[in-house]
Amino acid sequence: MVSGLGSKRSLLLSAAAAAASLSLNALSPGRASASLAQFPASELNIRYFLVRAGESVSEAEGITSTNPAFKTAMRNGLSPAGREQVKNESLQTLFSQRACDDGCWLWTSITNNSYQTAELLATGLLLGRSRIVPEFSFLDSRGVGALEGFEQAKAQAQLSQGDALDPSGGRSEVGAHVLRVQGYDGTPNESLVDVLVRVRQVMSVTETQYSQEDVLIITPDSLPLSVLQAAVLGVDLRQHSRYAFRAGEVRPLQLSSIPPTYAPFQMTCSSPPNC
Ligand SMILES: *[C@@H]1O[C@H](CO)[C@@H](O)[C@H](O)[C@H]1NC(C)=O
Ligand SMILES: *[C@@H]1O[C@H](CO)[C@@H](O)[C@H](O)[C@H]1NC(C)=O
Ligand SMILES: *[C@@H]1O[C@H](CO)[C@@H](O)[C@H](O)[C@H]1NC(C)=O
Repeated sequence: MVSGLGSKRSLLLSAAAAAASLSLNALSPGRASASLAQFPASELNIRYFLVRAGESVSEAEGITSTNPAFKTAMRNGLSPAGREQVKNESLQTLFSQRACDDGCWLWTSITNNSYQTAELLATGLLLGRSRIVPEFSFLDSRGVGALEGFEQAKAQAQLSQGDALDPSGGRSEVGAHVLRVQGYDGTPNESLVDVLVRVRQVMSVTETQYSQEDVLIITPDSLPLSVLQAAVLGVDLRQHSRYAFRAGEVRPLQLSSIPPTYAPFQMTCSSPPNC
């Protein structure tokens, strides 16, 4: 699909966070180092557009489908309505925002509906497919663990309850892990912070790699984008759904008016779980 860039990049992304700057040095000797993107972010090197893929077949049926083993399955492909959303709404928004006027890169999850969305957008924007950068795991849907295959609304309600108790997955004593149970089929059970950490890896690479072109970040569903947007604005991750995306919705990444803290990501909540 993507030649030299793609293979170098996947090598790069498989490296641990600490190793990332070393790999980037190897990739572009001119650069000093690649540091992790800091949040909140009041300034970024390039413009980002967040794109939620068009609706998938399993979304249309209301079923959760986040097992990475089936990312390319037909049920994760665009539904007929999803295809329309991309060709109509997503493209129109990108045109009206003058996205990609000076070129762009489409970073997308390889989950079927997301990759298909990237293909439709690349065609609509008259860009070659070589502008699509397939991301093999960091832009995926949140893994729902044992809730895989559940009705979406039910799974969502249970996960939100766990997130309200503990968005990070690091404090099992509060019982959040009971609500975010590990699956039996290899579906990871991810916290909001788990998702943020991997999406941030992608931004750390794009911030280092590009300087002029726009980057579209395309994900199979809303959560990776709403979590990223909340973090960039410095908003408590538990409030990420304020920034939820409809299927096919495109929005420029909004920057914070406050500078980054250069401290470990922290969340404060005066009256849990109502934050
Ligand atoms: C993705 O889903 C479509 C149906 O929308 C299907 O035709 C296609 O084979 C799937 N792609 C892959 C790579 O499995
Ligand atoms: C296309 O999108 C516009 C709004 O963005 C909507 O009003 C219109 O109904 C859509 N058309 C189709 C065919 O989905
Ligand atoms: C995932 O499940 C395991 C085992 O049930 C648990 O220890 C872990 O805390 C869970 N992860 C999150 C993020 O809740």
